[in-house]
Amino acid sequence: MSEPSQPDSDRRAVRALEDGVQRDFTQAMSYGDYLDLDTLLAAQHPRSEPPQHDELLFIVQHQTSELWLKLMIHELRSARTLLAGDDLAPALKRLARVKHIQNTLTQQWDVLATLTPSEYALIRPFLASSSGFQSYQYRAVEFLLGNKNADMVKVFDHDPTARAMLAELLTEPSLYDEFLRYLARRGYAVPAAVLERDVTQPYRENDALVDTIAAVYAAPDEHWGVYETCEELVDVEDNFQQWRFRHLQVVTRTIGHKMGTGGSSGVDFLRRALDLTFFPELYTVRTRVGG
Ligand code: HEM
Repeated sequence: MSEPSQPDSDRRAVRALEDGVQRDFTQAMSYGDYLDLDTLLAAQHPRSEPPQHDELLFIVQHQTSELWLKLMIHELRSARTLLAGDDLAPALKRLARVKHIQNTLTQQWDVLATLTPSEYALIRPFLASSSGFQSYQYRAVEFLLGNKNADMVKVFDHDPTARAMLAELLTEPSLYDEFLRYLARRGYAVPAAVLERDVTQPYRENDALVDTIAAVYAAPDEHWGVYETCEELVDVEDNFQQWRFRHLQVVTRTIGHKMGTGGSSGVDFLRRALDLTFFPELYTVRTRVGG
Protein backbone atom coordinates (compact mmCIF):
# COMPACT_ATOMS: atom_id res chain seq x y z
CA MET A 1 0.00 0.00 0.00
CA SER A 2 2.41 2.69 -1.18
CA GLU A 3 -0.32 4.94 -2.56
CA PRO A 4 -1.31 6.82 0.63
CA SER A 5 2.31 7.90 1.20
CA GLN A 6 2.50 9.51 -2.27
CA PRO A 7 2.25 13.29 -2.18
CA ASP A 8 -0.85 14.68 -3.91
CA SER A 9 1.09 16.19 -6.81
CA ASP A 10 2.75 12.80 -7.59
CA ARG A 11 -0.53 10.96 -7.44
CA ARG A 12 -1.91 13.11 -10.23
CA ALA A 13 1.25 12.94 -12.37
CA VAL A 14 2.35 9.31 -12.05
CA ARG A 15 0.42 6.05 -11.82
CA ALA A 16 2.48 3.66 -9.71
CA LEU A 17 2.78 0.23 -11.36
CA GLU A 18 1.24 -2.52 -9.23
CA ASP A 19 3.60 -5.34 -8.18
CA GLY A 20 1.61 -7.88 -10.14
CA VAL A 21 2.06 -6.08 -13.45
CA GLN A 22 4.17 -8.28 -15.75
CA ARG A 23 7.35 -6.55 -16.88
CA ASP A 24 9.60 -9.35 -18.12
CA PHE A 25 8.70 -10.89 -21.46
CA THR A 26 11.88 -12.81 -22.14
CA GLN A 27 10.00 -16.05 -21.37
CA ALA A 28 6.34 -14.93 -21.58
CA MET A 29 4.16 -14.02 -24.54
CA SER A 30 3.73 -10.26 -24.89
CA TYR A 31 1.03 -8.16 -26.54
CA GLY A 32 3.24 -7.63 -29.57
CA ASP A 33 3.97 -11.38 -29.82
CA TYR A 34 0.29 -12.30 -29.74
CA LEU A 35 -0.69 -9.73 -32.36
CA ASP A 36 2.39 -10.19 -34.53
CA LEU A 37 2.76 -6.43 -34.33
CA ASP A 38 6.24 -6.44 -35.85
CA THR A 39 4.75 -7.82 -39.06
CA LEU A 40 1.67 -5.59 -38.96
CA LEU A 41 3.56 -2.36 -38.29
CA ALA A 42 6.27 -3.17 -40.81
CA ALA A 43 3.71 -3.51 -43.60
CA GLN A 44 3.50 0.19 -44.53
CA HIS A 45 5.74 0.95 -47.49
CA PRO A 46 5.30 4.50 -48.76
CA ARG A 47 6.61 4.82 -52.32
CA SER A 48 6.61 8.57 -52.92
CA GLU A 49 9.90 10.19 -53.87
CA PRO A 50 10.55 12.68 -52.31
CA PRO A 51 8.55 11.20 -49.37
CA GLN A 52 5.08 12.73 -49.01
CA HIS A 53 3.74 13.27 -45.50
CA ASP A 54 0.18 12.18 -46.44
CA GLU A 55 1.01 8.83 -47.99
CA LEU A 56 0.97 7.08 -44.60
CA LEU A 57 -2.65 8.18 -44.07
CA PHE A 58 -3.55 6.79 -47.49
CA ILE A 59 -1.92 3.43 -46.73
CA VAL A 60 -3.28 3.08 -43.18
CA GLN A 61 -6.83 3.94 -44.30
CA HIS A 62 -6.72 1.16 -46.89
CA GLN A 63 -5.03 -1.37 -44.62
CA THR A 64 -7.44 -0.84 -41.73
CA SER A 65 -10.34 -1.17 -44.20
CA GLU A 66 -8.92 -4.50 -45.34
CA LEU A 67 -8.64 -5.71 -41.72
CA TRP A 68 -12.28 -4.87 -41.05
CA LEU A 69 -13.28 -6.52 -44.34
CA LYS A 70 -11.45 -9.65 -43.19
CA LEU A 71 -13.53 -9.74 -40.01
CA MET A 72 -16.72 -8.99 -41.96
CA ILE A 73 -16.09 -11.97 -44.26
CA HIS A 74 -15.52 -14.17 -41.19
CA GLU A 75 -18.83 -13.05 -39.65
CA LEU A 76 -20.82 -13.30 -42.89
CA ARG A 77 -19.55 -16.80 -43.62
CA SER A 78 -20.53 -17.83 -40.12
CA ALA A 79 -23.99 -16.21 -40.41
CA ARG A 80 -24.50 -18.12 -43.65
CA THR A 81 -23.52 -21.46 -42.04
CA LEU A 82 -25.81 -20.78 -39.07
CA LEU A 83 -28.75 -20.03 -41.37
CA ALA A 84 -28.07 -23.23 -43.30
CA GLY A 85 -28.34 -25.06 -39.94
CA ASP A 86 -31.61 -23.28 -39.02
CA ASP A 87 -29.84 -21.39 -36.18
CA LEU A 88 -31.56 -18.07 -36.73
CA ALA A 89 -30.79 -16.26 -33.44
CA PRO A 90 -26.98 -16.76 -33.55
CA ALA A 91 -27.02 -15.78 -37.25
CA LEU A 92 -28.68 -12.48 -36.30
CA LYS A 93 -26.02 -11.96 -33.64
CA ARG A 94 -23.38 -12.25 -36.38
CA LEU A 95 -25.22 -9.70 -38.51
CA ALA A 96 -25.40 -7.29 -35.57
CA ARG A 97 -21.59 -7.33 -35.46
CA VAL A 98 -21.36 -6.93 -39.23
CA LYS A 99 -23.47 -3.79 -38.98
CA HIS A 100 -21.12 -2.24 -36.41
CA ILE A 101 -18.11 -3.04 -38.60
CA GLN A 102 -19.85 -1.37 -41.53
CA ASN A 103 -20.56 1.73 -39.44
CA THR A 104 -16.91 1.89 -38.40
CA LEU A 105 -15.82 1.61 -42.03
CA THR A 106 -18.21 4.35 -43.06
CA GLN A 107 -17.16 6.74 -40.26
CA GLN A 108 -13.54 6.10 -41.14
CA TRP A 109 -14.00 8.07 -44.39
CA ASP A 110 -13.85 11.27 -42.31
CA VAL A 111 -10.15 10.68 -41.70
CA LEU A 112 -9.34 10.32 -45.41
CA ALA A 113 -11.56 13.31 -46.25
CA THR A 114 -8.83 15.48 -44.68
CA LEU A 115 -6.67 14.66 -47.71
CA THR A 116 -6.88 17.62 -50.09
CA PRO A 117 -6.71 17.31 -53.91
CA SER A 118 -3.27 18.95 -53.84
CA GLU A 119 -1.99 16.44 -51.28
CA TYR A 120 -3.45 13.47 -53.18
CA ALA A 121 -1.95 14.72 -56.47
CA LEU A 122 1.52 14.33 -54.92
CA ILE A 123 0.85 10.65 -54.12
CA ARG A 124 -1.17 9.63 -57.15
CA PRO A 125 1.78 9.07 -59.55
CA PHE A 126 3.19 6.48 -57.15
CA LEU A 127 -0.03 4.44 -57.01
CA ALA A 128 0.43 3.47 -60.68
CA SER A 129 -2.51 1.20 -61.69
CA SER A 130 -3.36 0.02 -58.16
CA SER A 131 -6.92 0.77 -57.04
CA GLY A 132 -9.45 -0.33 -54.43
CA PHE A 133 -11.26 -1.83 -57.40
CA GLN A 134 -8.74 -4.67 -57.02
CA SER A 135 -9.73 -5.37 -53.37
CA TYR A 136 -10.55 -9.08 -53.42
CA GLN A 137 -11.97 -8.93 -49.91
CA TYR A 138 -14.46 -6.26 -51.00
CA ARG A 139 -15.53 -8.56 -53.86
CA ALA A 140 -15.76 -11.44 -51.38
CA VAL A 141 -18.26 -9.43 -49.31
CA GLU A 142 -20.25 -8.58 -52.45
CA PHE A 143 -20.29 -12.27 -53.44
CA LEU A 144 -21.30 -13.36 -49.93
CA LEU A 145 -24.23 -10.94 -50.04
CA GLY A 146 -25.29 -12.17 -53.51
CA ASN A 147 -23.81 -9.72 -56.01
CA LYS A 148 -21.90 -12.38 -57.97
CA ASN A 149 -19.80 -11.35 -60.96
CA ALA A 150 -17.61 -13.92 -62.72
CA ASP A 151 -15.74 -11.12 -64.54
CA MET A 152 -14.39 -9.92 -61.19
CA VAL A 153 -12.72 -13.30 -60.58
CA LYS A 154 -10.58 -12.83 -63.69
CA VAL A 155 -9.13 -9.63 -62.23
CA PHE A 156 -7.23 -11.90 -59.82
CA ASP A 157 -5.58 -14.23 -62.32
CA HIS A 158 -2.25 -12.83 -61.06
CA ASP A 159 -3.03 -13.82 -57.44
CA PRO A 160 -3.89 -17.56 -57.04
CA THR A 161 -4.98 -17.24 -53.38
CA ALA A 162 -7.40 -14.38 -54.04
CA ARG A 163 -8.64 -16.02 -57.22
CA ALA A 164 -9.31 -19.33 -55.44
CA MET A 165 -11.21 -17.59 -52.63
CA LEU A 166 -13.46 -15.71 -55.06
CA ALA A 167 -13.94 -18.72 -57.37
CA GLU A 168 -15.12 -20.72 -54.34
CA LEU A 169 -17.50 -18.01 -53.13
CA LEU A 170 -18.86 -17.62 -56.66
CA THR A 171 -20.06 -21.23 -56.71
CA GLU A 172 -21.39 -21.22 -53.13
CA PRO A 173 -24.85 -19.97 -52.13
CA SER A 174 -24.88 -16.41 -50.79
CA LEU A 175 -26.21 -15.36 -47.39
CA TYR A 176 -29.49 -14.41 -49.10
CA ASP A 177 -29.68 -17.78 -50.92
CA GLU A 178 -29.34 -19.48 -47.52
CA PHE A 179 -32.01 -17.24 -46.00
CA LEU A 180 -34.43 -18.12 -48.81
CA ARG A 181 -33.67 -21.84 -48.39
CA TYR A 182 -34.33 -21.43 -44.67
CA LEU A 183 -37.70 -19.82 -45.50
CA ALA A 184 -38.59 -22.75 -47.76
CA ARG A 185 -37.72 -25.25 -44.99
CA ARG A 186 -40.00 -23.31 -42.65
CA GLY A 187 -42.92 -23.74 -45.05
CA TYR A 188 -42.86 -20.33 -46.75
CA ALA A 189 -43.66 -20.26 -50.49
CA VAL A 190 -40.28 -19.82 -52.14
CA PRO A 191 -40.39 -20.44 -55.92
CA ALA A 192 -38.35 -23.40 -57.21
CA ALA A 193 -36.70 -21.01 -59.67
CA VAL A 194 -35.19 -19.21 -56.67
CA LEU A 195 -34.18 -22.34 -54.77
CA GLU A 196 -32.63 -24.00 -57.82
CA ARG A 197 -31.08 -20.88 -59.33
CA ASP A 198 -27.54 -20.85 -60.70
CA VAL A 199 -25.80 -19.32 -57.69
CA THR A 200 -22.82 -18.19 -59.77
CA GLN A 201 -25.13 -15.50 -61.24
CA PRO A 202 -26.07 -12.26 -59.48
CA TYR A 203 -29.34 -12.67 -57.59
CA ARG A 204 -32.33 -11.34 -59.57
CA GLU A 205 -35.73 -10.33 -58.24
CA ASN A 206 -38.57 -12.88 -58.32
CA ASP A 207 -42.14 -11.48 -58.36
CA ALA A 208 -43.74 -14.48 -56.63
CA LEU A 209 -41.25 -14.20 -53.78
CA VAL A 210 -42.36 -10.60 -53.21
CA ASP A 211 -45.84 -11.98 -52.45
CA THR A 212 -44.36 -14.24 -49.76
CA ILE A 213 -42.39 -11.41 -48.18
CA ALA A 214 -45.45 -9.13 -48.40
CA ALA A 215 -47.39 -11.65 -46.28
CA VAL A 216 -44.65 -11.44 -43.62
CA TYR A 217 -44.79 -7.63 -43.56
CA ALA A 218 -48.59 -7.70 -43.41
CA ALA A 219 -48.50 -9.65 -40.11
CA PRO A 220 -45.14 -9.13 -38.38
CA ASP A 221 -46.28 -10.67 -35.07
CA GLU A 222 -47.00 -13.99 -36.76
CA HIS A 223 -43.63 -14.13 -38.51
CA TRP A 224 -41.36 -12.34 -36.04
CA GLY A 225 -38.08 -14.19 -36.63
CA VAL A 226 -38.38 -13.94 -40.41
CA TYR A 227 -39.56 -10.33 -40.23
CA GLU A 228 -36.64 -9.40 -37.97
CA THR A 229 -34.17 -11.15 -40.28
CA CYS A 230 -35.53 -9.27 -43.30
CA GLU A 231 -35.00 -5.98 -41.48
CA GLU A 232 -31.47 -6.99 -40.40
CA LEU A 233 -30.65 -7.75 -44.04
CA VAL A 234 -32.04 -4.38 -45.11
CA ASP A 235 -29.82 -2.75 -42.46
CA VAL A 236 -26.80 -4.54 -43.93
CA GLU A 237 -27.65 -3.40 -47.48
CA ASP A 238 -28.40 0.11 -46.26
CA ASN A 239 -25.02 0.26 -44.50
CA PHE A 240 -23.25 -1.09 -47.56
CA GLN A 241 -24.77 1.71 -49.65
CA GLN A 242 -23.76 4.29 -47.03
CA TRP A 243 -20.17 3.12 -47.40
CA ARG A 244 -20.40 3.36 -51.21
CA PHE A 245 -21.88 6.83 -50.98
CA ARG A 246 -19.19 8.14 -48.61
CA HIS A 247 -16.52 6.63 -50.87
CA LEU A 248 -18.12 8.45 -53.82
CA GLN A 249 -18.18 11.73 -51.88
CA VAL A 250 -14.56 11.44 -50.77
CA VAL A 251 -13.46 10.50 -54.29
CA THR A 252 -15.40 13.48 -55.71
CA ARG A 253 -13.76 15.97 -53.36
CA THR A 254 -10.32 14.45 -53.93
CA ILE A 255 -10.13 13.88 -57.71
CA GLY A 256 -13.26 15.54 -59.13
CA HIS A 257 -14.03 13.98 -62.51
CA LYS A 258 -10.58 12.56 -63.19
CA MET A 259 -10.23 8.90 -64.20
CA GLY A 260 -9.43 6.36 -61.48
CA THR A 261 -6.00 4.78 -61.09
CA GLY A 262 -7.77 1.48 -61.92
CA GLY A 263 -8.72 2.83 -65.37
CA SER A 264 -12.44 3.54 -64.87
CA SER A 265 -14.20 6.85 -65.56
CA GLY A 266 -14.05 7.51 -61.78
CA VAL A 267 -17.07 9.01 -60.02
CA ASP A 268 -19.52 8.14 -62.83
CA PHE A 269 -18.47 4.50 -62.59
CA LEU A 270 -18.77 4.52 -58.79
CA ARG A 271 -22.18 6.22 -58.88
CA ARG A 272 -23.60 3.36 -60.97
CA ALA A 273 -22.86 0.96 -58.08
CA LEU A 274 -25.50 2.82 -56.05
CA ASP A 275 -28.16 1.23 -58.33
CA LEU A 276 -27.11 -2.29 -57.29
CA THR A 277 -29.22 -4.18 -54.77
CA PHE A 278 -28.48 -7.38 -52.88
CA PHE A 279 -31.96 -8.20 -51.59
CA PRO A 280 -34.41 -6.81 -54.19
CA GLU A 281 -37.61 -8.34 -52.78
CA LEU A 282 -36.94 -6.78 -49.37
CA TYR A 283 -37.02 -3.35 -51.00
CA THR A 284 -39.87 -3.95 -53.47
CA VAL A 285 -42.11 -5.10 -50.64
CA ARG A 286 -41.96 -1.62 -49.10
CA THR A 287 -44.10 -0.19 -51.89
CA ARG A 288 -46.79 -2.73 -51.03
CA VAL A 289 -46.89 -2.42 -47.25
CA GLY A 290 -50.08 -0.78 -45.99
CA GLY A 291 -51.93 -1.23 -49.29
C1 HEM B 1 -8.55 9.44 -51.94
C2 HEM B 1 -8.80 8.16 -51.84
C3 HEM B 1 -9.51 7.34 -52.88
C4 HEM B 1 -9.77 7.62 -54.19
C5 HEM B 1 -9.42 8.90 -54.99
C6 HEM B 1 -10.44 6.48 -54.74
C7 HEM B 1 -10.88 6.39 -56.04
C8 HEM B 1 -11.50 5.28 -56.58
C9 HEM B 1 -11.94 5.18 -57.95
C10 HEM B 1 -11.83 6.27 -59.00
C11 HEM B 1 -12.47 3.94 -58.12
C12 HEM B 1 -13.04 3.35 -59.40
C13 HEM B 1 -12.04 2.35 -59.99
C14 HEM B 1 -10.83 3.02 -60.56
O1 HEM B 1 -10.87 3.44 -61.73
O2 HEM B 1 -9.80 3.13 -59.86
C15 HEM B 1 -12.40 3.26 -56.83
C16 HEM B 1 -12.88 2.02 -56.58
C17 HEM B 1 -12.86 1.41 -55.35
N1 HEM B 1 -12.25 1.88 -54.20
FE1 HEM B 1 -11.48 3.71 -53.96
N2 HEM B 1 -10.60 5.54 -53.74
C18 HEM B 1 -10.03 6.02 -52.60
C19 HEM B 1 -9.96 5.37 -51.39
C20 HEM B 1 -10.41 4.10 -51.13
C21 HEM B 1 -10.30 3.42 -49.87
C22 HEM B 1 -9.69 3.99 -48.58
C23 HEM B 1 -10.85 2.21 -50.02
C24 HEM B 1 -10.95 1.19 -48.94
C25 HEM B 1 -10.70 -0.08 -49.12
C26 HEM B 1 -11.33 2.11 -51.38
C27 HEM B 1 -11.96 1.02 -51.93
C28 HEM B 1 -12.44 0.95 -53.22
C29 HEM B 1 -13.22 -0.14 -53.73
C30 HEM B 1 -13.66 -1.38 -52.96
C31 HEM B 1 -13.49 0.15 -55.06
C32 HEM B 1 -14.36 -0.68 -56.02
C33 HEM B 1 -15.78 -0.08 -56.00
C34 HEM B 1 -16.71 -0.64 -57.05
O3 HEM B 1 -16.36 -1.58 -57.77
O4 HEM B 1 -17.84 -0.11 -57.14
N3 HEM B 1 -11.06 3.30 -52.01
N4 HEM B 1 -11.80 4.10 -55.92
